Amino acid sequence: MSEEALPAVLEVAGLRSGYHGVTVLKDLDFTVRNEIFTVLGANGAGKTTLLATLARLIPLTAGTIRFQGEDVSALAPYRTAARGIGYVPQESGTFADLTVLENLKIGGMIGQRSREERIAEVFDLFPVLRKLQAQTAGTLSGGESRMVACGRALMQDPKLLLLDEPTAGLSPLYVDLFFDKIKEIHETRGVAIVLAEQNATKALEVADRVMVLSLGQAFAAQDAAEVTTQQLKEGYRI
Ligand SMILES: Nc1ncnc2c1ncn2[C@@H]1O[C@H](COP(=O)(O)OP(=O)(O)OP(=O)(O)O)[C@@H](O)[C@H]1O
Ligand SMILES: [Mg+2]
Repeated sequence: MSEEALPAVLEVAGLRSGYHGVTVLKDLDFTVRNEIFTVLGANGAGKTTLLATLARLIPLTAGTIRFQGEDVSALAPYRTAARGIGYVPQESGTFADLTVLENLKIGGMIGQRSREERIAEVFDLFPVLRKLQAQTAGTLSGGESRMVACGRALMQDPKLLLLDEPTAGLSPLYVDLFFDKIKEIHETRGVAIVLAEQNATKALEVADRVMVLSLGQAFAAQDAAEVTTQQLKEGYRI
Protein backbone atom coordinates (compact mmCIF):
# COMPACT_ATOMS: atom_id res chain seq x y z
CA MET A 1 0.00 0.00 0.00
CA SER A 2 1.36 3.42 -0.86
CA GLU A 3 1.72 6.08 1.82
CA GLU A 4 -1.10 8.03 0.25
CA ALA A 5 -3.41 5.07 0.65
CA LEU A 6 -2.83 4.77 4.40
CA PRO A 7 -5.84 6.05 6.33
CA ALA A 8 -5.51 9.38 8.10
CA VAL A 9 -5.03 9.15 11.86
CA LEU A 10 -5.29 12.89 12.37
CA GLU A 11 -6.83 15.45 10.01
CA VAL A 12 -6.35 19.10 10.86
CA ALA A 13 -8.19 21.76 8.85
CA GLY A 14 -8.10 25.55 9.25
CA LEU A 15 -6.74 25.20 12.78
CA ARG A 16 -6.37 28.46 14.65
CA SER A 17 -5.52 28.82 18.32
CA GLY A 18 -3.56 30.93 20.79
CA TYR A 19 -3.77 32.64 24.13
CA HIS A 20 -6.04 35.37 25.51
CA GLY A 21 -7.16 36.63 22.12
CA VAL A 22 -3.67 36.46 20.57
CA THR A 23 -3.65 34.12 17.59
CA VAL A 24 -0.49 31.96 17.52
CA LEU A 25 -1.42 29.24 15.02
CA LYS A 26 -2.80 30.61 11.79
CA ASP A 27 -4.98 28.32 9.72
CA LEU A 28 -2.97 25.12 9.76
CA ASP A 29 -3.95 22.27 7.43
CA PHE A 30 -2.22 18.89 7.61
CA THR A 31 -2.86 15.17 7.80
CA VAL A 32 -0.97 12.61 9.87
CA ARG A 33 -1.07 8.98 8.84
CA ASN A 34 0.53 6.03 10.66
CA GLU A 35 3.97 7.64 10.46
CA ILE A 36 6.48 9.76 12.32
CA PHE A 37 5.36 13.30 11.53
CA THR A 38 7.86 15.89 12.71
CA VAL A 39 7.07 19.53 13.40
CA LEU A 40 10.21 21.64 13.15
CA GLY A 41 10.55 25.26 14.13
CA ALA A 42 12.58 27.78 16.10
CA ASN A 43 11.81 29.02 19.64
CA GLY A 44 8.36 30.57 19.67
CA ALA A 45 7.29 29.07 16.33
CA GLY A 46 4.20 27.54 17.91
CA LYS A 47 5.18 23.86 18.33
CA THR A 48 4.05 23.57 21.95
CA THR A 49 0.88 25.54 21.19
CA LEU A 50 0.12 23.09 18.37
CA LEU A 51 0.66 19.95 20.44
CA ALA A 52 -1.29 21.34 23.41
CA THR A 53 -4.12 22.25 21.03
CA LEU A 54 -4.10 18.75 19.54
CA ALA A 55 -4.19 17.33 23.10
CA ARG A 56 -7.21 19.65 23.67
CA LEU A 57 -5.53 21.61 26.47
CA ILE A 58 -5.89 24.88 24.51
CA PRO A 59 -9.22 25.66 22.80
CA LEU A 60 -9.42 26.17 19.04
CA THR A 61 -10.66 29.51 17.83
CA ALA A 62 -11.31 28.13 14.34
CA GLY A 63 -11.00 24.91 12.38
CA THR A 64 -11.38 21.22 13.15
CA ILE A 65 -9.34 18.31 14.45
CA ARG A 66 -10.47 14.86 13.37
CA PHE A 67 -8.97 11.79 15.03
CA GLN A 68 -9.64 8.47 13.31
CA GLY A 69 -12.50 10.13 11.47
CA GLU A 70 -14.16 11.60 14.57
CA ASP A 71 -14.37 15.35 15.19
CA VAL A 72 -12.57 15.79 18.53
CA SER A 73 -12.25 19.59 18.29
CA ALA A 74 -14.41 20.25 21.34
CA LEU A 75 -13.66 17.18 23.47
CA ALA A 76 -12.14 17.48 26.96
CA PRO A 77 -8.51 16.29 27.27
CA TYR A 78 -9.40 13.18 29.28
CA ARG A 79 -11.77 12.14 26.53
CA THR A 80 -9.17 12.50 23.78
CA ALA A 81 -6.75 10.54 25.98
CA ALA A 82 -9.34 7.78 26.30
CA ARG A 83 -9.81 7.78 22.51
CA GLY A 84 -6.06 7.14 22.08
CA ILE A 85 -4.22 10.46 21.94
CA GLY A 86 -1.21 10.33 24.27
CA TYR A 87 0.58 13.58 25.14
CA VAL A 88 4.07 14.08 26.54
CA PRO A 89 4.46 17.80 27.33
CA GLN A 90 7.68 19.75 26.92
CA GLU A 91 8.01 20.33 30.66
CA SER A 92 7.85 17.47 33.15
CA GLY A 93 4.82 15.27 32.43
CA THR A 94 5.34 13.36 35.69
CA PHE A 95 3.97 13.65 39.22
CA ALA A 96 7.12 14.64 41.14
CA ASP A 97 6.00 13.30 44.54
CA LEU A 98 4.96 9.89 43.26
CA THR A 99 7.27 6.99 42.49
CA VAL A 100 8.09 5.86 38.96
CA LEU A 101 5.76 2.87 39.38
CA GLU A 102 2.92 5.05 40.71
CA ASN A 103 3.32 7.42 37.76
CA LEU A 104 3.00 4.50 35.35
CA LYS A 105 -0.02 3.10 37.20
CA ILE A 106 -1.81 6.44 36.91
CA GLY A 107 -1.22 6.40 33.14
CA GLY A 108 -2.69 2.90 33.08
CA MET A 109 -6.03 3.94 34.55
CA ILE A 110 -7.16 4.38 30.94
CA GLY A 111 -7.23 1.29 28.74
CA GLN A 112 -8.42 -2.30 28.67
CA ARG A 113 -5.32 -4.46 28.94
CA SER A 114 -3.88 -5.54 32.30
CA ARG A 115 -1.77 -2.84 33.92
CA GLU A 116 0.94 -5.33 34.84
CA GLU A 117 1.32 -6.33 31.19
CA ARG A 118 1.64 -2.71 30.12
CA ILE A 119 4.08 -1.85 32.92
CA ALA A 120 6.25 -4.79 31.86
CA GLU A 121 6.25 -3.43 28.29
CA VAL A 122 7.35 0.02 29.47
CA PHE A 123 10.16 -1.59 31.50
CA ASP A 124 11.21 -3.59 28.43
CA LEU A 125 11.33 -0.37 26.39
CA PHE A 126 13.16 1.63 29.08
CA PRO A 127 14.99 -1.00 31.21
CA VAL A 128 16.48 1.62 33.53
CA LEU A 129 12.98 2.37 34.86
CA ARG A 130 12.67 -1.15 36.26
CA LYS A 131 15.55 -0.39 38.61
CA LEU A 132 14.19 3.05 39.47
CA GLN A 133 10.57 2.03 39.98
CA ALA A 134 10.51 2.83 43.73
CA GLN A 135 12.22 6.23 43.33
CA THR A 136 10.14 9.41 43.41
CA ALA A 137 9.91 11.02 39.96
CA GLY A 138 11.04 14.42 41.27
CA THR A 139 14.47 13.01 42.12
CA LEU A 140 15.19 11.55 38.66
CA SER A 141 17.65 12.96 36.12
CA GLY A 142 16.25 14.85 33.13
CA GLY A 143 16.60 11.85 30.81
CA GLU A 144 15.06 9.41 33.30
CA SER A 145 12.20 11.80 33.90
CA ARG A 146 11.54 12.01 30.13
CA MET A 147 11.34 8.22 30.02
CA VAL A 148 8.77 8.17 32.82
CA ALA A 149 6.67 10.83 31.07
CA CYS A 150 6.84 8.86 27.84
CA GLY A 151 6.12 5.58 29.66
CA ARG A 152 3.13 7.13 31.39
CA ALA A 153 1.65 8.19 28.03
CA LEU A 154 2.33 4.72 26.57
CA MET A 155 0.44 3.14 29.49
CA GLN A 156 -2.70 4.59 27.88
CA ASP A 157 -2.16 2.36 24.83
CA PRO A 158 -2.26 5.41 22.53
CA LYS A 159 -2.80 5.21 18.79
CA LEU A 160 -1.21 8.64 18.42
CA LEU A 161 1.60 10.00 20.58
CA LEU A 162 2.31 13.74 20.75
CA LEU A 163 5.93 14.28 21.84
CA ASP A 164 7.03 17.83 22.59
CA GLU A 165 10.83 18.15 22.28
CA PRO A 166 11.50 14.91 24.18
CA THR A 167 15.28 15.29 23.89
CA ALA A 168 15.65 18.98 24.82
CA GLY A 169 18.43 19.42 27.34
CA LEU A 170 19.57 15.80 27.24
CA SER A 171 23.15 14.61 26.75
CA PRO A 172 24.05 13.21 23.29
CA LEU A 173 23.84 9.63 24.55
CA TYR A 174 20.26 10.12 25.77
CA VAL A 175 19.34 12.02 22.60
CA ASP A 176 20.37 9.05 20.44
CA LEU A 177 18.65 6.59 22.78
CA PHE A 178 15.44 8.58 22.71
CA PHE A 179 15.29 8.86 18.94
CA ASP A 180 15.86 5.09 18.72
CA LYS A 181 13.01 4.53 21.16
CA ILE A 182 10.68 6.80 19.20
CA LYS A 183 11.35 4.72 16.09
CA GLU A 184 10.85 1.52 18.06
CA ILE A 185 7.53 2.72 19.51
CA HIS A 186 6.30 3.55 16.01
CA GLU A 187 7.57 0.41 14.29
CA THR A 188 6.80 -2.26 16.89
CA ARG A 189 3.59 -0.86 18.37
CA GLY A 190 2.15 0.83 15.28
CA VAL A 191 1.74 4.15 17.12
CA ALA A 192 1.55 7.28 14.91
CA ILE A 193 3.84 10.00 16.23
CA VAL A 194 3.77 13.78 16.07
CA LEU A 195 7.19 14.94 17.19
CA ALA A 196 7.93 18.61 17.88
CA GLU A 197 11.65 19.28 17.53
CA GLN A 198 14.28 21.97 17.15
CA ASN A 199 17.01 19.46 16.40
CA ALA A 200 16.42 19.28 12.64
CA THR A 201 19.29 16.91 11.87
CA LYS A 202 18.20 14.22 14.30
CA ALA A 203 14.51 14.67 13.63
CA LEU A 204 14.96 14.30 9.87
CA GLU A 205 16.73 10.99 10.48
CA VAL A 206 13.66 9.41 12.04
CA ALA A 207 10.84 11.36 10.37
CA ASP A 208 8.68 10.13 7.52
CA ARG A 209 7.28 13.59 6.88
CA VAL A 210 8.08 17.06 8.10
CA MET A 211 6.18 20.29 8.58
CA VAL A 212 8.18 23.45 9.28
CA LEU A 213 6.39 25.96 11.50
CA SER A 214 7.38 29.60 11.42
CA LEU A 215 5.53 32.24 13.42
CA GLY A 216 2.50 29.98 13.61
CA GLN A 217 2.36 29.33 9.88
CA ALA A 218 3.29 26.08 8.19
CA PHE A 219 5.42 25.28 5.21
CA ALA A 220 3.63 22.39 3.48
CA ALA A 221 4.21 18.98 5.00
CA GLN A 222 6.44 16.82 2.87
CA ASP A 223 8.63 13.72 2.84
CA ALA A 224 11.56 14.10 5.22
CA ALA A 225 14.02 13.03 2.54
CA GLU A 226 12.94 15.92 0.30
CA VAL A 227 13.32 18.78 2.78
CA THR A 228 15.98 21.16 1.53
CA THR A 229 18.42 23.23 3.55
CA GLN A 230 16.88 26.30 1.96
CA GLN A 231 13.43 25.42 3.30
CA LEU A 232 14.85 24.87 6.76
CA LYS A 233 16.65 28.19 6.64
CA GLU A 234 13.47 29.98 5.60
CA GLY A 235 11.51 28.19 8.33
CA TYR A 236 14.08 29.05 10.96
CA ARG A 237 14.53 32.56 9.55
CA ILE A 238 18.28 32.16 9.18
N1 LIG B 1 0.65 30.74 28.05
C1 LIG B 1 0.91 31.64 27.09
N2 LIG B 1 0.34 32.86 27.09
C2 LIG B 1 0.58 33.76 26.10
N3 LIG B 1 1.41 33.54 25.06
C3 LIG B 1 2.02 32.35 25.00
C4 LIG B 1 1.81 31.32 26.01
N4 LIG B 1 2.55 30.25 25.69
C5 LIG B 1 3.19 30.57 24.53
N5 LIG B 1 2.88 31.81 24.13
C6 LIG B 1 3.38 32.49 22.90
O1 LIG B 1 3.00 31.71 21.78
C7 LIG B 1 4.07 31.69 20.82
C8 LIG B 1 4.41 30.25 20.49
O2 LIG B 1 4.95 29.63 21.65
P1 LIG B 1 5.23 28.07 21.73
O3 LIG B 1 5.54 27.73 23.14
O4 LIG B 1 4.11 27.33 21.09
O5 LIG B 1 6.54 27.93 20.80
P2 LIG B 1 7.51 26.69 20.60
O6 LIG B 1 7.65 26.50 19.14
O7 LIG B 1 7.03 25.53 21.38
O8 LIG B 1 8.88 27.24 21.19
P3 LIG B 1 10.05 26.44 22.01
O9 LIG B 1 10.88 25.76 20.96
O10 LIG B 1 10.80 27.55 22.66
O11 LIG B 1 9.41 25.50 22.96
C9 LIG B 1 5.22 32.50 21.41
O12 LIG B 1 5.18 33.77 20.85
C10 LIG B 1 4.89 32.54 22.89
O13 LIG B 1 5.37 33.73 23.47
MG1 LIG C 1 7.81 24.43 22.87
